[in-house]
Amino acid sequence: SLYDFGMIGLGVMGRNLLLNMADHGFSVIGFDKDAAKNSALEAAATPGTTVKGVADLATMVQLLERPRKLMMLVPAGKPVDDVIASLLPLLEQGDVVIDGGNSHYTDTLRRVQELRPKGIHFMGMGVSGGEQGARTGPSIMPGGDLDAYAKVKPMLEAIAAKVKEVPCVAYLGKEGAGHYVKMVHNGIEYAIMQLISESYALLQKGAGLSNDQLHEVFKSWNQGALQSFLVEITADIFLQNDDKTDQRLVDVISDKAGSKGTGKWTSQDAMELPVAVPVIDTAVAMRTLSGYKEQRLQAEALYKAPENSLHVPAEMWIKQVHDALYFATILSYAQGLAMLREASNDLKMEIPLPEVVKVWRGGCIIRSTLLEVFTQAYQKNADLANILLDEGVAYLVQSVESNTRSVVAQAASAGVPVAGFMSALSYFDAFRTGRMPTNLIQAQRDYFGAHTYQRIDMPGTFHTEWQQH
Ligand code: 6PG
Repeated sequence: SLYDFGMIGLGVMGRNLLLNMADHGFSVIGFDKDAAKNSALEAAATPGTTVKGVADLATMVQLLERPRKLMMLVPAGKPVDDVIASLLPLLEQGDVVIDGGNSHYTDTLRRVQELRPKGIHFMGMGVSGGEQGARTGPSIMPGGDLDAYAKVKPMLEAIAAKVKEVPCVAYLGKEGAGHYVKMVHNGIEYAIMQLISESYALLQKGAGLSNDQLHEVFKSWNQGALQSFLVEITADIFLQNDDKTDQRLVDVISDKAGSKGTGKWTSQDAMELPVAVPVIDTAVAMRTLSGYKEQRLQAEALYKAPENSLHVPAEMWIKQVHDALYFATILSYAQGLAMLREASNDLKMEIPLPEVVKVWRGGCIIRSTLLEVFTQAYQKNADLANILLDEGVAYLVQSVESNTRSVVAQAASAGVPVAGFMSALSYFDAFRTGRMPTNLIQAQRDYFGAHTYQRIDMPGTFHTEWQQH
């Protein structure tokens, strides 16, 4: 008999998603050129489930129930186009092809448009949660054709993470919306990871905390307002022993941070729109700067550190850093969500923000208890321009504002780099400033380039012959 669902690419994510589907009663078939991956798939199947791996694409396509529902999980870029090219002659009108990888949304848009006239429904879909998430419940961000979504909805709802029994999947908008939402998810992921790493430095330098104590602090934070996946795994990381030395693993890991591009894409696209997401920009920049190890070592020898060091009682410092992390994390979500709203309008994607925050509540890397707060904010106003404009969010931000200022001020005076925290606070201060000093920039532009300006007291566009003194 025929299979319910097919998967192209049986790497870690593809295999685990397929096994997850099988566990929920769907019969599944996977294709990978690598025979070892096919047998690994079948060997990992839960007894009693229907799971098959084949090494021939045409065989897999023939064995699928019609209209066919299949997903590809291959590296972003050319591999996706190559798979589509080899699939096309095998497919029929009405078939649904899902790209579950981290593709750039402009590629998705192009593919949707190329396949639409051929009657093939192409869907871009973000999947978050890593290996564990894929196997037991990821957060799923699909976009594209609504009829196509209806065909795969039961399967996606079955395999998604659940929060209070609500599946962490929803239709998130037209065309490339799924991959767009996933891109911004990753931008926020970069921002929060940067902020956590700055907190780590502040706790080490300001309170001299050991790895054991850092574990305790993050563990306790994960039981309160900062409860989140990233804080939870951070607590674990401090306890991990190295198997090559007698040190903690975190202490022997190089500080050069890698990236696969989705954070950078978020910043690039934010500039294009434009919309301001400076915490995400900063997070991308700090990963980049981390790679310039040689120059940093030279500069470390050249520049004396400030005489001031952090002098704060440990308990108070831990509370202040906690509050700063809470503040800046809210700001990171605020910037990402504001970006989604702008992009949705600009590209006519109709991204439902109340659904986005619901989908992010479970399964994904940026899941956190804060998403409940944002869900409530969007319940009051589904078209909220920026979550900082919600009164509930404003109350929370203001409750930690003064400790955030204190942390940033002390870090600045002691020379501890906290670009993420500073950027969050500066964005906040600019955002809550009704009149920015950018009137002067307008004057300068008009002075040297006759770029014109507008006035606060009358309509129209003006130019002045500025006088030299
Ligand atoms: C997720 C993650 C994942 C991403 C990694 C690596 O939601 O499960 O976002 O999709 O690929 O986090 O990203 P970088 O290599 O760019 O850090």
